[in-house]
Amino acid sequence: MSKNFDVVVIGAGPGGYVAAIRAAQLGFTVACIDEWKNEKGGPAPGGTCTNVGCIPSKAMLQSSENYDHAGHAFADHGIEVKGLSLNVKKMVARKDSVVKQNNDGILYLFKKNKVTFFHGRGSFVQAVDGAHEIKIAGATEENIFAKHVVIATGSNPRALPGAAFDEKLILSNTGALAITDVPKRLGVIGAGVIGLEMGSVWRRLGSEVTVLEALPAFLGAVDDAVAKEAFKQFTKQGLAISLGVQIGAITAGKNDVTVNYVDDKGAAQKAVFDKLIVSIGRVPNTIGLNAEAVGLKLDERGFIAVDADCKTSLPNVWAVGDVVRGPMLAHKSEEEGVAVAERIAGQHGHVNFNTIPWVIYTSPEIAWVGKTEQQLKAEKIAYKAGSFPFLANGRARALGDTTGFVKFLADAKTDEILGVHIIGAMASELISEAVVAMEFRASSEDIARICHAHPSLSEAVKEAALAVDGRALNF
Ligand code: FAD
Ligand code: NAI
Repeated sequence: MSKNFDVVVIGAGPGGYVAAIRAAQLGFTVACIDEWKNEKGGPAPGGTCTNVGCIPSKAMLQSSENYDHAGHAFADHGIEVKGLSLNVKKMVARKDSVVKQNNDGILYLFKKNKVTFFHGRGSFVQAVDGAHEIKIAGATEENIFAKHVVIATGSNPRALPGAAFDEKLILSNTGALAITDVPKRLGVIGAGVIGLEMGSVWRRLGSEVTVLEALPAFLGAVDDAVAKEAFKQFTKQGLAISLGVQIGAITAGKNDVTVNYVDDKGAAQKAVFDKLIVSIGRVPNTIGLNAEAVGLKLDERGFIAVDADCKTSLPNVWAVGDVVRGPMLAHKSEEEGVAVAERIAGQHGHVNFNTIPWVIYTSPEIAWVGKTEQQLKAEKIAYKAGSFPFLANGRARALGDTTGFVKFLADAKTDEILGVHIIGAMASELISEAVVAMEFRASSEDIARICHAHPSLSEAVKEAALAVDGRALNF
């Protein structure tokens, strides 16, 4: 097998595997190296996203929502469920099989696209004759050579000082997705995306969930109106969320964890949990790359320093995804991976950071793109707003889920859409229309004039666009 490649990608998460496939489509000889191991020690490409992130969390969210519906919502539809029981081990096994399907799917795609896959850790050795020598340390060790290197090594969970993850009592996302018995008392530190998604899973399955958040504001990056509605809904569902806390000592006992903290009134508190999830953000992963030895520059926060085109400080070395600046989202990583492959081919790959959607897969779902109302105010941009509640949408009523609303923000003068914020059922799917509209720099009137199928939740999107001009039809 040749040891010389046009492009070598380190990391097969959503940034890396997609970059490898796109580079192969463009006619390059490509290798992709990934060190993730499945429980048998075999390769498990797909990164955090596939193994301990997006995919397994959505599998658990779906299973737990089904259980919740069977226990609570079905009765409203005249469906009586007797003897409902829960088999968490089976739920987790199903989640594992969904993960495996995705791992296998990526291996198949590598084969189909003639990407050579190496299972092991990739690290820089040296630059030789205009190429980069990369060492692969896996079951065996070998060195390969690349004209271009794409680093897509992702991120790791951030631990609290003095409370290392043991994945039994103090859990990162990895342990949180592998719990096999419902903990009676579940503590969550950090009311961010992981805390709310994982907190929702275990609340639905029967845990008493306490979420401790350092900031005084709930979901500060989310539009204020949406964050307010989300807080109302989550607390109504039973998540006990304390804001403005200061976490102190955390001690793991034999079967429980004690968290000392100071609440928002300055009073010392102590809480004891059967399991504790710590979800306070993630840190870039450059471990084992041998970055320093070859002079690869990191920024002050430990991310690989890149320019707007994802070029690093080394010639023909690129970096994408969670390991570089910008939102830590799978689709952002993928877009950067594709753009870099195209730039290597001399094309003009582009990622529009203004139209990257965000989704929080709680119930109700939260999704948004573009600016929040508070951002527009802070930036002194004149805007018009229009909202439409799902309560007034026929499909939402038929569904039995009328929580939430769609909110449009448009430029006061030009009517160009500046932001769209959705809280409600299927927000993750509905947001796509707003992303497309913003990518084409549409106005709210453009959406208001487009025919939307009836009855559908997407009519709420059209109605919110109509509401910008004060002419919603059904509210
Ligand atoms: P990663 O997915 O982290 O992949 C990096 C890969 O590189 C890994 O396989 C790793 O083993 C490998 N690697 C690292 N160093 C080396 C080396 N030296 N040699 C060989 N291999 C190496 N994002 C969303 O958009 N939607 C979601 O719903 C979502 N849900 C999430 C849920 C959870 C619980 C978590 C933790 C994250 C979630 N994310 C979600 C974020 C998403 O998972 C990340 O943004 C995404 O995985 C980043 O992709 P990446 O390719 O940059 O890195
Ligand atoms: P996060 O940044 O979303 O939330 C972390 C929260 O912890 C913040 O609210 C922060 O104020 C709080 N916090 C920080 N330090 C704290 C401390 N010492 N004590 C108490 N609270 C503290 O990070 P999270 O939830 O860990 O997720 C990491 C990233 O993974 C997300 O930012 C997102 O990029 C990605 N992700 C995306 C998902 C999606 O797209 N649906 C789902 C899950 C994760």
